[in-house]
Amino acid sequence: MIDSERISLPNRPDQKVNVKKTFGINSDLVVHGFKEKTQWVPTIDPTYVFDKDTTLAILAGFEHDRRVMIQGYHGTGKSTHIEQVAARLNWPCVRINLDSHISRIDLLGKDAIVLKDEKQITEFKEGILPWSIQNPVAIVFDEYDAGRPDVMFVIQRILEVEGKLTLLDQNQVISPHASFRLFATTNTVGMGDVTGLYHGTQQINQGQMDRWHILSTLNYLERSHEIDVVSGKVPELKSAKDKALIKSMIQLADLTRQGFINEDISSLMSPRTVITWAQNYIIFKDIQHSFRLTFLNKCDEAERPIVAEYFQRCFGEDLLESHNPEK
Ligand SMILES: Nc1ncnc2c1ncn2[C@@H]1O[C@H](COP(=O)(O)OP(=O)(O)O)[C@@H](O)[C@H]1O
Ligand SMILES: [Mg+2]
Repeated sequence: MIDSERISLPNRPDQKVNVKKTFGINSDLVVHGFKEKTQWVPTIDPTYVFDKDTTLAILAGFEHDRRVMIQGYHGTGKSTHIEQVAARLNWPCVRINLDSHISRIDLLGKDAIVLKDEKQITEFKEGILPWSIQNPVAIVFDEYDAGRPDVMFVIQRILEVEGKLTLLDQNQVISPHASFRLFATTNTVGMGDVTGLYHGTQQINQGQMDRWHILSTLNYLERSHEIDVVSGKVPELKSAKDKALIKSMIQLADLTRQGFINEDISSLMSPRTVITWAQNYIIFKDIQHSFRLTFLNKCDEAERPIVAEYFQRCFGEDLLESHNPEK
């Protein structure tokens, strides 16, 4: 857990950032970041490809103190987009996955017994939320729609007026640092899940949704962007033949996405799946085998023949699984 040390940075960002040069995006938006890279600033991924709309939404969040929620299917780059923008603005960033076993106490803090001058005393140990709020930190609540009710109740409080946080047990009201920022990522748009794909997601009430100023959607990257993303992640695949292979892999991923939307299959290949497949291909040097290990084995058995047919269409090779045992 974080100790209560404060991050020492100017109260407000002190360096203008060139959006075109830094993110490869044409925009008039003026953006500031910090000169100094401090603890909690994410590491830069130099191969990262920025999606224009998503990046501008996130930049507006940093520059104009807007609360930004990014919604989209899994593995499309929601969390890493925020992290990679923060990395380039030198903005300390903390990701909190609400899908895990995080509780109200982890967020707020608790009384703990500590030794001081050889005496046992009870001291309040600040949780991650009060610490973040008082620092120039961007919090990212990941899997926002999967948060437990007690946790959402706490978050609701900082979404209220002026973002002040009251620690009831401590009789303390915490005001946010001028450079505290709030982001969230979610698979659904707060309506709960209608597709059955995202188990454990909750409806987010309208009042909560209203307090997010910007809702941006990141579903799939353009084909050429996705090729850049995958090539960037697996530089070993660089020959013309390899590039053609990556293209076919993404073509197949697209078929699974369409199939998913048409309800022909219940799982889909995200950009993350494609990256993993390319990495596994380098290990096993076998496109079919690495495909099976990365994706096919995770599919519902009844749907494997459909996926095998997609594979056939993209690679001109038959997979074992193309036989439907029921036929
Ligand atoms: N635009 C991109 N450029 C480079 N890598 C990307 C991009 N989008 C996604 N990725 C990679 O895909 C994986 C999934 O991204 P992530 O942000 O975790 O997705 P999400 O939060 O939407 O589930 C990560 O390994 C990330 O590095
Ligand atoms: Mg995520």
